Amino acid sequence: MSAHLTLIAAVSADGFISRGQGVPWDLPLDRAQYRAYTENKWLLIGRRTYEEMLGWFKLGHHPLVLTRARQISPEAAISPQVVYSISQALLIAQNQPELVCCGGAEIYAAAMPYAQRLVITHVHEFLGSGLPFPPISLREWEPVTRKSHVTDADHAFAFDIVTYQRIRQLDLAA
Ligand SMILES: NC(=O)c1ccc[n+]([C@@H]2O[C@H](COP(=O)([O-])OP(=O)(O)OC[C@H]3O[C@@H](n4cnc5c(N)ncnc54)[C@H](OP(=O)(O)O)[C@@H]3O)[C@@H](O)[C@H]2O)c1
Repeated sequence: MSAHLTLIAAVSADGFISRGQGVPWDLPLDRAQYRAYTENKWLLIGRRTYEEMLGWFKLGHHPLVLTRARQISPEAAISPQVVYSISQALLIAQNQPELVCCGGAEIYAAAMPYAQRLVITHVHEFLGSGLPFPPISLREWEPVTRKSHVTDADHAFAFDIVTYQRIRQLDLAA
């Protein structure tokens, strides 16, 4: 048995998550849904993203931080657990109902083949370049829910929050 793995990300119309440092949008409603979705869950996070998110974690979060190093910076409120591979993270979290992968780009690429669900905020902006999110093939993924938001005074870009369920499992051994 392994934890049900979900990838959660905000992705530009041309498939990027970042220009290289930080998330390039300020979308309060998306931040709120991200906070709500991840509340009290086990999280899988790349070391770089983890360091950007220091101070964000709340009691109830259980961050597994993926690194090749032996030591990482401590978080004040929450003790992270260091992991060295996606499969190790899945094993450690095997009794959890869900493990939520919060990126960044290297970790999304490594975790995508193991994911059963994607929660993607499709932001209606083109970045042109940056760190990519893996392609979402509709041969493998079915959109099951969609919430659309238009631009307003607080949101410079429209966006759609789409949940995808895997409909075809890749052969991970191939
Ligand atoms: N738009 C969004 O939704 C979103 C979400 C999250 C992050 N981001 C953005 O993404 C960017 C960071 O992404 P990133 O790709 O640069 O970094 P990352 O994926 O957050 O972290 C990369 C680090 O993870 C570790 N790592 C990667 N692959 C590994 C493996 N196979 N085994 C063990 N450890 C491994 C390494 O840590 P060590 O160097 O310690 O060995 C590597 O340096 C930031 O700009 C962040 O703001 C955007």
